[in-house]
Amino acid sequence: MTATSEFHHQDILALGRQLRPAVIAIDGPAASGKSTLGFRLAGLLDYLFLDTGVMYRAVTWAVLAQGIACGDEAAVGDCAHAVDIDIRAPGADQQDGRHTTVLVDGRDVTWLIRAPEVDRNVSVVSAYPEVRRALTAKQRQIAHRYGRGDADRPGIVLVGRDTGTVVVPDAALKLYVDATPEERARRRHRELEKQGKPVDYDQVLADMIRRDRIDSERAVAPLRPADDAIRIDNTGQDAGATLAQAVRVLRQKVASD
Ligand code: DC
Repeated sequence: MTATSEFHHQDILALGRQLRPAVIAIDGPAASGKSTLGFRLAGLLDYLFLDTGVMYRAVTWAVLAQGIACGDEAAVGDCAHAVDIDIRAPGADQQDGRHTTVLVDGRDVTWLIRAPEVDRNVSVVSAYPEVRRALTAKQRQIAHRYGRGDADRPGIVLVGRDTGTVVVPDAALKLYVDATPEERARRRHRELEKQGKPVDYDQVLADMIRRDRIDSERAVAPLRPADDAIRIDNTGQDAGATLAQAVRVLRQKVASD
């Protein structure tokens, strides 16, 4: 059953207009389905969708493109402050499965930031305090503008690792989405095969576990559920069921406020 069949769309739009601040934070590990959930939930609510992970990927891509060594913390930090990252809704000529268009210094890097080389280095880059300082400030600024409800959309859905704990701890609704490492590796493996990039499942699982460990054990803004986050484990569940569950949680939240 999908969220739209379970709840009327007008009803969901109304829920989104009652939420204050109009900010939903969704965190979780790689391939947990948080981006799919955030994108679809934002669509139902007519909220802006901001996947904060693409900003860390964009910096990592810029670092690699400029030939900066990922281990050079100072140079990577400088790059994070200097780089111009722009995230836009896809244009009519960009309907190729992307959720957003990501520009780095004016260049469309939407698919380049999904390259295995970026995957391998993004956890290291995103653990640097200076990188986090630069990107957290940008994310918070956008979230507060939309959270007031007077921007060009009635609210915002942020997705990432630390949106509920660090970026917007005042978000009205916080979700923590998770699934077993094996299920998440299967999803990522399928995704890579679909893109014509066959890789070994065991390698995908090992990379996933390695990234989870770096993301959750880093000193600054580690991946963890906020104390007041509502957990959704979607192991064995499809995207529609996860969306329906999130809408139910949102409805309860608005009713209890
Ligand atoms: O969600 P993703 O796989 O696209 O995220 C890429 C990386 O960015 C991930 O390894 C951790 C980092 N990240 C982060 O540190 N904080 C966020 N809020 C979002 C992503």
